[in-house]
Amino acid sequence: MAYEMLITDVSDYVGLIKLNRPDALNALNAQMLDELAAVLKAWDRDENVRAIVITGSEKAFAAGADIKEMSEKSFVDMFGSDYFTDQTESISRTRKPIIAAVSGFALGGGCELAMMCDFIICSDTAKFGQPEINLGVMAGIGGTQRLTRLVGKSKAMEMNLTGRFMDSEEAERSGLVSRVVPAKELLDDALKTAGKIAEKSQITAMAVKESVNRAYETTQREGLLFERRVFHSLFATEDQSEGMAAFAEKRTPKFRDR
Ligand code: HXC
Repeated sequence: MAYEMLITDVSDYVGLIKLNRPDALNALNAQMLDELAAVLKAWDRDENVRAIVITGSEKAFAAGADIKEMSEKSFVDMFGSDYFTDQTESISRTRKPIIAAVSGFALGGGCELAMMCDFIICSDTAKFGQPEINLGVMAGIGGTQRLTRLVGKSKAMEMNLTGRFMDSEEAERSGLVSRVVPAKELLDDALKTAGKIAEKSQITAMAVKESVNRAYETTQREGLLFERRVFHSLFATEDQSEGMAAFAEKRTPKFRDR
């Protein structure tokens, strides 16, 4: 399927989505988010996709929600349409692992989109921020919630209250990103990392994703119980037998997602 605001490609079981509104620094509008949600939904059911990378351009992952699209909206428009809610919930419901490969600006909704992914690898040029306060609004799709859980109250509060940007070094130090790589290596690195995930058992990878995400949704006690039960349930899979047999036989496992 062809998309207007995205470039998509599937190769070696890795799905790549490139946000493609270069004239607007990949500002997120309703159409782009509709398209993003649609691709992810389709790939969640597609056997040829086992891990996903979302990226932008060298200059901008995404510079936020489209300010021009939002500027004419009233409270009734935003509340009535539940602006961006369907799409963002659909994106975060994706069961297959998603890596955000961030270069340049990841601001406002762009930073929030990156945080909806399972982890972020960024280039040394990345700049993260929640500058909505400068527009007389605030973050609306995770910037006060996911950012606070990821980097703690002090930094999240400062970033949301002042609108200042965080560079790649600070982002790594604060736990917002998993790794920083040179800009030229970013996409290759993210695709290779996704490729490694694609080699695992899909069932196990989805179980890991559900379990880590659970840590953000519940108490530690409940989370540990959830983890333990999911761990136990993996002993009902053929991939568990195969993985452990392969280790004993000193060979590479052949996972079949069963
Ligand atoms: C619409 C945008 C945009 C945005 C950039 N552009 N960001 N258009 N929405 N968020 C457009 C500019 O208008 C300009 O178009 C072109 O992209 C290039 O941008 P410049 O500003 O000329 O580039 P530069 O000088 O390099 O500055 C880069 C920048 C700046 C620092 C990233 O563009 C910027 O501050 N952008 C806004 C960042 C922001 O406030 N994001 C939060 C949005 S609110 P023209 O046509 O003039 O060439 C949000 C809410 C989320 O995200 C919650 C949703 C529910």
